[in-house]
Amino acid sequence: MCGIVGYLGKKNIKEILLSGLKELEYRGYDSAGIAVLEDGNFSIYKAVGKLVNLEEKTKDYESHGFAVGIGHTRWATHGKPTELNAHPHLGESSYVVHNGIIENYAQLKKELQDKGVVFLSQTDTEVIVHQFEKNLKLLKNSFDAFSKTVGELQGAYAILLVTKSEPDTIFFAKQGSPMLIGVDEQNDSYFASSDTPLIGQCNSVNYFEDGDFGYVTPKKLMIFSANGTQRDAKFVPLSQNKLSAQKDGFRFFMEKEIYEQSSVISDTLMGRLSESEVIFEELNENLFYGISEIKFCACGTSYHSAMSAFYLFERYAKVKTSLEVASEFRYRNPIMSKDTLFVVISQSGETADTLETLKMAKKAGLKTLVICNVDNSSMVRLADAAILTRAGIEKGVASTKAFATQVTVFWMLSLYVAKIRNSLSGTDIANQIALLREVPKHTKVTEVLHEKMKRLSKRYLHGHGFFFIGRDIFYPLALEGALKLKEISYLHAEGYPAGEMKHGPIALADPELFTIALLPQHLHYEKTKSNVEELSARDSTICVISSEEFDKADDFVQISSCKHYMLEFYEMMIVVQLLSLEISVRLGNDVDMPRNLAKSVTVE
Ligand code: G6P
Repeated sequence: MCGIVGYLGKKNIKEILLSGLKELEYRGYDSAGIAVLEDGNFSIYKAVGKLVNLEEKTKDYESHGFAVGIGHTRWATHGKPTELNAHPHLGESSYVVHNGIIENYAQLKKELQDKGVVFLSQTDTEVIVHQFEKNLKLLKNSFDAFSKTVGELQGAYAILLVTKSEPDTIFFAKQGSPMLIGVDEQNDSYFASSDTPLIGQCNSVNYFEDGDFGYVTPKKLMIFSANGTQRDAKFVPLSQNKLSAQKDGFRFFMEKEIYEQSSVISDTLMGRLSESEVIFEELNENLFYGISEIKFCACGTSYHSAMSAFYLFERYAKVKTSLEVASEFRYRNPIMSKDTLFVVISQSGETADTLETLKMAKKAGLKTLVICNVDNSSMVRLADAAILTRAGIEKGVASTKAFATQVTVFWMLSLYVAKIRNSLSGTDIANQIALLREVPKHTKVTEVLHEKMKRLSKRYLHGHGFFFIGRDIFYPLALEGALKLKEISYLHAEGYPAGEMKHGPIALADPELFTIALLPQHLHYEKTKSNVEELSARDSTICVISSEEFDKADDFVQISSCKHYMLEFYEMMIVVQLLSLEISVRLGNDVDMPRNLAKSVTVE
């Protein structure tokens, strides 16, 4: 998602900030900007779209000596990707850049507006700089004002702030969003959201911890912990390999993305949940008026998340739903009636088959909605409405965090529609919202689990096939588990409804048939258990994933005890992703770029 850079020193600041932002492009963005303070004057440049546009705008600007500066690539969350919404944001004499989401921005904004402060953007970020300037007037000391401001913010942030009142200083704060600082031999300071912009500039860096805030000048770096006590920087050597830096120490992008799921799901949820309702500022309730059916259409992993939506919507929103594989839908002369809401799901927003079905639905006069990870993609531009999943750039061809955030959006959307249709009570919706807030906790990868999957994987490198089985919403998860495995291990794997095994596939059962059974405690436990026992009786090799001990399994992966089946869903999702990853690693395959596959398929 968004990227931050900062620099304090005498070198060519424009080049350092722009090349730093270039190194953060992989995070995804739709606008960018820089602010440089030199000799008491600010030079500000912002541009929508790619960095070439910002480079073009800054082509005549040169710095002449010591300067401080901050830069930002923005991935729109609050407000459209426009120049006004691009960072850095201005107060009266200070600029700020920010990654993350300020959850209490609406309340702070109202208080500031009541005091006459005029806001120029729709962003949550702008409150930071106005709040700082309000505190500066009060306290007459920039650092005191900055510390007070940080204490008043709720949510996730990495912040850099520069101000005319302290022209040789960069203020920083970090809570929940990544940020580090590097210092070079001339004692110049560099900030960034990840290692890559600092490679080649600094040999050692300090990674800020949550709660850290402070400032840097040419003479000193001051870091304070959340409780206000000063602490020393912990500089560590910086790897000089850019690709491995982008992987943040993980072996593969897929592995990094599995680990990121907890934090990107927090981003997906952020600002969209109150105590009693789901809020999608980007939607108009009208979209759901006069609708008697919702049709979901997608490809690949996105199709599996669409299938999970199929279960959630019928259960919670009590609306008739149907499901379509995009490549099939295109050519079967489907009947399309105008009381159907047509929902396409796509990580990239560019998949040709899915895009074509969206065009067909629009042509037939249906209302359309896209659930997508990439703003400004073809599908987002075409559909009547869009919900962004906020997973950040996904590099591994085998999709993981995109799937996790899609399911999360669908769970939220099913509750949003339930409220409109009055199909769930207020208490039920509030209970579900409380559960949604727990998803980030249940998607954290623990070392114990990962080690277990590494060990377990060695038993599953051969055989004549895998069946991933589950019932209800665990059936699409079984499909997704099987897809992950075949994509990166090249072993044959199928996802199957657990209750359907007896109608054919059970004929394959023998010790070389591996069954991965998804056995949630809170949804059809006994029924699924019986299906697993049927396979066990026929000597199939069985790996059960459950919170409940299961003595008929050859292998058992225990998930934590959860309050609700959806939380079990996410815990099992992590298990099947890690299992595929580790099998692929043991087989020596290219995890991130599996043979024959492409991340975005823009051909039929
Ligand atoms: C390709 C990718 C899959 C992906 C599918 C749909 O086949 O390899 O991982 O699920 O496209 O992509 P989309 O961007 O539309 O979600």
